[in-house]
Amino acid sequence: MPPPVPMTVPTASIVVLISGQGSNMEALVQAARQGRWEQRFGARVVGVVSNRPDAPGLAWARQQGLQAAALDHRHYPTREAFDADLAHTIDAMDPHGQPAWVLLAGFMRILTPGFVQRYEGRMLNIHPSLLPAFPGLHTHRRAIESGCRFAGATVHRVTAELDHGDILEQAVVPVLPGDTPDTLAARVLTQEHVIYPRAVERLLAAAAAVAVAPPQRNV
Ligand code: GRF
Repeated sequence: MPPPVPMTVPTASIVVLISGQGSNMEALVQAARQGRWEQRFGARVVGVVSNRPDAPGLAWARQQGLQAAALDHRHYPTREAFDADLAHTIDAMDPHGQPAWVLLAGFMRILTPGFVQRYEGRMLNIHPSLLPAFPGLHTHRRAIESGCRFAGATVHRVTAELDHGDILEQAVVPVLPGDTPDTLAARVLTQEHVIYPRAVERLLAAAAAVAVAPPQRNV
């Protein structure tokens, strides 16, 4: 019997964008390791980019041996100029200049339409509310002030409209009596760390299944 033909799945690079602590980024990197994304899906987190040079998440990423780049948005004259450099930095993190996935993880920048278009379909975001409720900032304060009994987080595809796009995962937490924006944020954040890796893993599994599917034969 001839030896089995090895199935080659091209490596799908993942680049994560952060602005601060980077706990969602950590959850993604750890899920990739524990879930053996590279062996199972040919997917690897290759790098992290922050628009804030002092973002604590950058140091953690470096310690993990990941590429870590800081682009200080305050040094750019326009949003377009920043986004052009950001795209260049993201693409350079992939050996072929084209990462498969761009994951926004607490990345606090409004993106230009050109940037969104470049990564359309392969860029995801996590937002700390149950979208379509409370897009934008101060989600926890707004949920408390609105008298919501439940809050949560949403993983969605990124489109040109802020905090819109297909919803991929959501998690719900209760709003408890006496909650402040901080206590609610902490409760929501624990769930973000669960649903973001889960949403990504599901997409990777689907993409890998397509990549290794045998060619269709006409019968
Ligand atoms: C998260 O709540 C995220 O949803 C929001 O900002 C926070 C970032 O946290 N956009 P971290 O940097 O991932 O720890």
